[in-house]
Amino acid sequence: MVTINYRSAEIKLAESVYDPAEDSYLLADAAVGHAEDGMRVLEIGTGTGFVSAVVQANRKVKLIATEINPYAAACARSNGIEVIRTDMFAGIRKDRQFDLIVFNPPYLPTSEDEKVPGWLNYAFDGGIDGRTSIRYFSEEVSGYLAPGGTILLLVSSLTGIKEVSERMQAYGLKTKIVASVKCSFEELVVIKATGHSCPGEQK
Ligand SMILES: C[S@@+](CC[C@H](N)C(=O)[O-])C[C@H]1O[C@@H](n2cnc3c(N)ncnc32)[C@H](O)[C@@H]1O
Repeated sequence: MVTINYRSAEIKLAESVYDPAEDSYLLADAAVGHAEDGMRVLEIGTGTGFVSAVVQANRKVKLIATEINPYAAACARSNGIEVIRTDMFAGIRKDRQFDLIVFNPPYLPTSEDEKVPGWLNYAFDGGIDGRTSIRYFSEEVSGYLAPGGTILLLVSSLTGIKEVSERMQAYGLKTKIVASVKCSFEELVVIKATGHSCPGEQK
């Protein structure tokens, strides 16, 4: 069994589950930077549980995660994460609120012939413009955000950073890039979004 160690967390990897990569590390660091003891944290699409495990290893938070891929949900559970196997927010009670919500989505623009076989496709397939999951996430996320809460969303330059930011602003969220890294063919960024802003305050 392959395991990786990062910031006091030990994470087991598994077949058919996204292996933590530069995007996972960038989001995990940003999440630890924004998490405080006592916070209620939600991770959407936890994969191996890497980001959640790093947060749990470094902060005393109450954390749950969701994941659509059953192999990933099982893997994350084996890494000590409380996981609801569901589509995005569907399995989360509507009255639950979180101080920090993090998501490293499937963000790659993907045509029909670029799809990966099996459950692993959910890790990569962002639809034709890379923003299919992000659109759904942006529409739903505010309903689960506690007053004063923070959203951290990982996005690639291939996805369209400006387009994603504008989409979140259209839902009344204020956005700011709080972390970035250049990889070989893309730039990865973490967009921080915070609660409802007053009209005229969105940009
Ligand atoms: C890019 S991977 C990131 C995995 C992990 N969070 C990390 O950073 O290493 C995206 C993850 O989101 C999951 N996912 C995709 N669509 C989802 C959905 N609609 N609901 C829940 N999870 C989803 C995928 O199965 C995959 O595990």
